[in-house]
Parts: sequence; C-alpha cells; structure tokens
Amino acid sequence: MNFSDKNIFSYYDQYFLNTYNRFHIIFVKGEGKYLYDINGKRYLDFFCGLSVSNLGHCNKKLLTVLKRQSNKLWHISNFYYHTAQIELAKLLIKKTFPARVFFSNSGAEANECAIKLVRKYGNSIGKYEIITFKNSFHGRTIATVTATGQQKFQTGFEPLLEGFKYAEFNNITSVKKLISNRTVAIMLEPIQGEGGVIPAEKKFLEQLRDLCNQKKLILIFDEVQTGYGRTGELFAYQYYKVKPDIITMAKSVANGLPLGITLVDEKYASVFNFGDHGSTFGGNILSCTVATEVLKLIDTKLLKNVKIVGEYFLSRLVSLKKKYKFIKDVRGVGLMVGMELTFPCREVVQKCLQKGILINVTQDKVLRFLPPLIITTSDVDFVVSVLDEIFKEY
Ligand SMILES: Cc1ncc(COP(=O)(O)O)c(C=O)c1O
Repeated sequence: MNFSDKNIFSYYDQYFLNTYNRFHIIFVKGEGKYLYDINGKRYLDFFCGLSVSNLGHCNKKLLTVLKRQSNKLWHISNFYYHTAQIELAKLLIKKTFPARVFFSNSGAEANECAIKLVRKYGNSIGKYEIITFKNSFHGRTIATVTATGQQKFQTGFEPLLEGFKYAEFNNITSVKKLISNRTVAIMLEPIQGEGGVIPAEKKFLEQLRDLCNQKKLILIFDEVQTGYGRTGELFAYQYYKVKPDIITMAKSVANGLPLGITLVDEKYASVFNFGDHGSTFGGNILSCTVATEVLKLIDTKLLKNVKIVGEYFLSRLVSLKKKYKFIKDVRGVGLMVGMELTFPCREVVQKCLQKGILINVTQDKVLRFLPPLIITTSDVDFVVSVLDEIFKEY
C-alpha cells in the first residue's frame, strides 16, 4: 500500500475514534535519542513517547535480548510458568523491598490492580475509601479516571466509582480532614506529571507515611512516570527516602513494549486469592525479557548522568527564566522537568518540531521535558538555544 502524507492524515480521520489531537508528523524510525520522519528529517526526542523510551529508541542491547527471545516463545497464558517473569520480579524486588508483583499491560491497569487490592483488603473491615489528590493523573479506566483528581478527565463519564476523595497536594491538613473510619488507602504521584510537573515536598511525603502508619492506611505511590531512573534514582520513593506500601509502574519498564507492574509490600501478600485478579497479556514474555535487561541497564553510571544533566538542564532553564518575563516557573527533579509560561504553549511545541526537537505541553501552559536518560549536556545546550531563539519572537 502506498501512502502520501495527506492520505495518512485523512485515513486517521476516517478510521480512528477521535481521541488524540495529533501533530502532523509521520515517524518511521528511531535510533537512540533521535526519531526520523517519513521525509528523513531528524528530531531530538525530549519527550520519549511520554517517558517510555528512557534508554533510547531501538536500544542495541534490548534489541539483542528481544530478538533472542522472539525466536523462542512470545506468549503463554498465566495458567503456566515462565522464567522471564521470575527473573524480572526477582531483580525488581532486589532493587526495592520484600514484595510481591502483579504484571499487567499499562499504567492504568497497574493502578487498577492497586485499587482492587486495597478494596479487597478493606472489604472485611468496612473500609473502601481512597484519598487521592487534586491535579493528579492515574489513567483512563473508570476506576483510574475517578482516582484522577481533575474534572476535565471525568466529565461525561458519570456516574464515577464510589469512594474517592481528593485532597490538596502538599497539604497534610487537607488529607487529615478527609480521613474517615472508611479510609483504606492514600494514593499519589510523588511528582505530579500530567498535572504540570509538580514535585511533592519531602516533608509532605514523610507526614503522609507517618499518617498511614498511625491510621493503618496503605500508601500507594503511582510511579508510572517517575519510576525507572527519571529522577536520578531508580524510583522517586528512593529520591525522597519515603517508602510506600505499593508502587505502580509502567511506561518505561520495557522501554516501549507494553508492561504494567504493581509491586505490593510482602505484608499484603495474602490479600488476593486465586481468581481475584488477572490479565491475558500481563507479564508477556517478550516484555518481561526486555524489562529485566532495562533494569540491568539503569545502573549507577546512568543514574548519575540523569542527576548531572538534569541539574544542568534546570540551571539553563532558570537562566532563560531570568531573560523572559513570561516564564512563570521552572521546576523538576532529574530529567522530569517543567517550564510554566504565562500563555498556552502548543505553538512553542510546534515551533520546536519545526526546528527538530520533540517536547510536550501539559496543563496548557507547562512545557514538559521528558528526554531519554542517555542525553548529554550538549543536547541540553541545543534545546535551550532553540527555545531561546523561539522565545525571542514572543
Ligand atoms: C502517573 C501516571 N499514572 C498512570 C498513567 C496511565 O498510564 P497508561 O497510559 O499506561 O495507562 C500515566 C500516563 O500518563 C501517568 O502519568
């Protein structure tokens, strides 16, 4: 089948449900930190497919293990055993804490599993309420859209699930006010991503941990975006030094293959019984094989790179802020960085694309940068010089 650019765009209009506001680019190849479009133009990828291709596109080491496994076996039902799942779970637990895992396919599903687990735990004692946060994002299923503390994702899908309450982020008093004798868990992103790259304060997370200990609540960290090296530590909870009871992860765990993981503290190992939860594709052999290699590749050297380049990036953006009054704020941790402008910035993203850089906008006015963890300070210099050039026009 032969496609022209125009054809491709109109086929999307013709064949797909109207859920995405796409930029008119057709990508055909990825290599490390670069993407190539159908016309051979190269783009520096500071978006990573939304924090997914953290180790770069078509990473050679990942390709080797993927090819090797794809010649043997792709999928089996979870009614049987496979060593790829053991290797991944074992390594993940070694790098976190004594826990059990459940494999699914996405971030929403990893959260769905956590929500079901805490509900099951609370069921026999009459507890089911979960406190989440305003401005949060936890996914697009009905349960996770309910957990998401933003009306724009909920409107039109009512009635939502019962039992969710929304507290103010970084405000422990507002959390305390919402706790009742039906509360079973507190769930949050350590750094709100979609909400505009808003880091939790360390003290706030410590207070949440204390509160959960005191009231016997389960603390869930949604690390779907913050996990896997993004902050300069393997997980944001390690950056903050506050341990949750459950971590949910997805996105970059298999560097682009679908996989969601719910990691549950050993204390809650017996909450689920046979048949309580399941997934046909969850723990797919190819995804797990790649995911184990991904974990091995996120080593101390790479995490150090994230810290150094992340700090450098932030400092360069702070310099830009001094130059342009319309830059309201610059914030982030490691290579999860946001720049808030005083006006909507989709046009800035479009201009960056013209100049060969992929970035993202969230909450209308926040430029979001989620580059692969392998970038260097020269990549940062390039991006900052392009932004500087674009900003001169405003
Ligand atoms: C923090 C967080 N949780 C959950 C999700 C949902 O993940 P998925 O799109 O894989 O379902 C996202 C996606 O952006 C996210 O950023």
